[in-house]
Amino acid sequence: MLRRLHKDQPTSFAFTPKNLEWAQGQISKYPEGRQASAIIPLLWRAQEQEGWLSRPAIEHVAGMLGMAYIRALEVATFYFMFQLQPVGSIAHVQICGTTSCMICGAEDLVAVCKELISPKAHTVSADGKFSWEEVECMGACANAPMAQIGKDYYEDLTPAKLRELIARFSNGEVPVPGPQNGRYAAEPLSGLTSLKEYEQGRKPYNASAQFAVDIGDTVKRIDGTEVPILTPWLGKAAVQAEVTPASGTPTEPKPGKNAVADSTGVTVQEAPAESNAKPVSKDDPAAPATVAGVKPAGLTEARGGKADDLKIIKGIGPKLEALCHRLGFFHFDQIANWSADEIAWVDDNLEGFRGRVTRDEWVAQAKILAAGGTLQGSKWE
Ligand code: FES
Repeated sequence: MLRRLHKDQPTSFAFTPKNLEWAQGQISKYPEGRQASAIIPLLWRAQEQEGWLSRPAIEHVAGMLGMAYIRALEVATFYFMFQLQPVGSIAHVQICGTTSCMICGAEDLVAVCKELISPKAHTVSADGKFSWEEVECMGACANAPMAQIGKDYYEDLTPAKLRELIARFSNGEVPVPGPQNGRYAAEPLSGLTSLKEYEQGRKPYNASAQFAVDIGDTVKRIDGTEVPILTPWLGKAAVQAEVTPASGTPTEPKPGKNAVADSTGVTVQEAPAESNAKPVSKDDPAAPATVAGVKPAGLTEARGGKADDLKIIKGIGPKLEALCHRLGFFHFDQIANWSADEIAWVDDNLEGFRGRVTRDEWVAQAKILAAGGTLQGSKWE
C-alpha cells in the first residue's frame, strides 16, 4: 500500500506542555548526537495526542531531534502503526484479517465496518466519529476474530457484537475490552480443564482487560497528564518538574531556545528564577514548586574572547556547548565551581538534554580540566 501524507493538513502542531515534558525526557535517554533515536516514541506520542500524524507533527518532531524532515518522514511512512490520515474522533477500528481471524469471520467484521463506518478503509465516517482499516495478525489468534479499537483489544467478536460495540462507543461508553463471548481469557470455550484452582478469587477480568479498565484510556487522546512522567535518570530536577502547583495549574512549559531576553542568555521566563536565587529546600513550604535550584552566575562572553573547549568534557557535544554559551558558561572553572543547587538549575534548563550535568558528571570532569589536568587515564577518557 502506498503511504503518503494526507492531502488536507493542519497549519501547525505543538505538543501539550505535559507531552512536551515527556518528550524531552525521552530525548534525554540518548547520548549527545543520538537524539534521533527518540523518533518513534515522539511520533507515537504526537499520534496519541492528535489521533494521526500530520505533516506539521512530523516536521515538529524532526525539528526537536535535529533531523532532516525527510528522515522523519521515512520513519512515519514505513511503519503502518502510524496513521497518515485523519481518524475518527472517537476511535480508529483495526480489524485483524490474518489467517485465524479470517477463518473465524474477519471478513464479516470488515463488512460491518464498511456498512457502519465507511465503504473505504482509512476514511472517516460521515459523523466523524470512526474510521477503520484491516491489519495483520495482532497476536490474539486464540481469541479470533478480534479488533483493536482505540488502544485495546476486543476479542471473540461476531458481526452483531461489533455492531453493538460501535453503537456503545458512539454513545460515549467505553465497553470493557477482552473476550466478548463470555470467556475469561483464552481458555477453552467449554471452560477450564486444568488449573481450576486459580478461578477462585481472581479479578473480574483477565490481566490485559483489567489493566485496560484500570488505566481507562482505551479511546482517550493522550495529553500527558494521564500518568507520572518517569525519568528517574534525570534525578532531582525531573522530580521537581513533576510537581504541579497547589492551584492545579500545570507547570509552564520551558521557554523556547529563541526566547533570549538579554545578552546573558537569560530568557523572560527564566529571569524570575534568577532573582529568587536561593537554595530550594523540599521542606520549605514557601519554596516555589517549579524552580529547580539556583542559576549559576554566567558571563556575557568568554574571558579574553576565548572560551575553553567544553566539548572535552565527556557528554558535551556541539549542541550542548552552544547551549552552555547561551547560558553564560564558557570555562571549565565556571562549571567546576557549581554547587549542588546550581547543578540542579542547569540540569533543569538544558532543554532537550535535561539531567546531563549529573548523569555525565560535568563538575568532576571540569574540576580536573580547570586544574590544568587532562581526562586521560580517568574513567571519562
Ligand atoms: S490472526 Fe488475528 S490476531 Fe492473529
